Amino acid sequence: MATAILGMQWGDEGKGKITHLLARKASVVVRYSGGPNAGHTVIDRGVKFGTHQVPAGAFYPGTRCVLASGMVIDLAVLREEYETISAHLDNEIDLVISENAHLILPYHRTLEELEGSGAAIGTTRRGIGPAYRDKAARIGIRAGDLLNPTRLREKLAYRVTLLQRLWPASEETAALSAAGLADGLLDAGRPFLSSIGDTAGMIRDALSSASTTGEEVLFEGAQGALLDIDFGTYPCVTSSATTFAGLGQAIGIPNPCVERRIGVVKAYTTRVGRGSFPTEITGGIGARLQEKGGEFGVTTGRSRRCGWLDLVALKHAARLNGPTDLAITKLDVLSGLPEIEICVAYRLRGERIVHFPLADEDLALCQPIYETLVGWEEGIEGVRKYSDLPQEAHKYLERIAAELGAPIGLVSIGPAPEETIAIG
Ligand code: IMP
Repeated sequence: MATAILGMQWGDEGKGKITHLLARKASVVVRYSGGPNAGHTVIDRGVKFGTHQVPAGAFYPGTRCVLASGMVIDLAVLREEYETISAHLDNEIDLVISENAHLILPYHRTLEELEGSGAAIGTTRRGIGPAYRDKAARIGIRAGDLLNPTRLREKLAYRVTLLQRLWPASEETAALSAAGLADGLLDAGRPFLSSIGDTAGMIRDALSSASTTGEEVLFEGAQGALLDIDFGTYPCVTSSATTFAGLGQAIGIPNPCVERRIGVVKAYTTRVGRGSFPTEITGGIGARLQEKGGEFGVTTGRSRRCGWLDLVALKHAARLNGPTDLAITKLDVLSGLPEIEICVAYRLRGERIVHFPLADEDLALCQPIYETLVGWEEGIEGVRKYSDLPQEAHKYLERIAAELGAPIGLVSIGPAPEETIAIG
């Protein structure tokens, strides 16, 4: 059986916890897109981790972790995470890295600063955009290049010359040396050299054996559908495909058979960085959600903007991810609110619309149209059975499932693995 875990909002939905939970039974866990811009929170045997490069499913010895071709990898971040988690496990993570995955170099972060995209889009400043741009421009450095140091140095020499030509006044680019960059990569990448190879073939084999033996293969999505490079709120998006629609390309398998696609939905909406957010609440309840939900970025520590659930945006995400079931996270954060708003449509230039505008500039003009649901007073952190949730919470959850056309399989009511209600 293969399962994909997919973000349905602007990231930070709680995919890390769900991946970690389901990975217990998985033989293979694949991260297939994005890079260290992602920060997946995992609590493993009482210890909290924020994973950025290693899959959130890496916490079980015997589970193979794959970094697939759609990713961009910062080897220094990977190395640190690999060592920390391996020490926690008392066992080295079984890691495989696609030879086609692109590497993030220090100059990618420099470019982000020189060009100002960090400030303009509110990026995570991890070099993501420039690294994916080098890939598209065919001047990127890939994991496979580490296996041939001579070729690596030649490619870097060409790349450094280009950078110095384009940014002649920059001290940072003037100081770059191909030999220094190559040494840095080879040093950080040393533990992984024997793990670099053809991940598409490996995933294909795992999927084919999963279909006959009942083994579990897990695909861990990064970011959320609304940050997708093509179908998100462009230009305030990340630089990769973040939806199920992008999975096949990112792993190199046409039409992969993924029977279960879990759409992860936070019970309210958050967004970090710049960009339109029709249901944002500034102050008041927004501040309360931020505080109670601990809404601060795992990667950057930035505070996340908070607002009500947006069904217009979620239906757009459902069309891109095709969820077979939903995991609703952080439901406990809504406890104690007398009323809960839910956005059912937008008003754009005087007209009621139910489609999600793709351009961030159009979304900025949309006013949310809300329906009001009755909230619940009592805390629900201790609840372990769906039937023990308050009636008003049932109504809220049932409304989401009905609107998105997918049943709810999991409800998360706290960060720890046991704070989860499995349904059905
Ligand atoms: P980048 O991916 O660092 O280029 O950032 C582009 C946009 O995506 C910014 O608004 C970031 O805040 C947002 N973003 C990227 N990764 C994540 C994530 O994992 N969670 C939430 N937002 C993210």
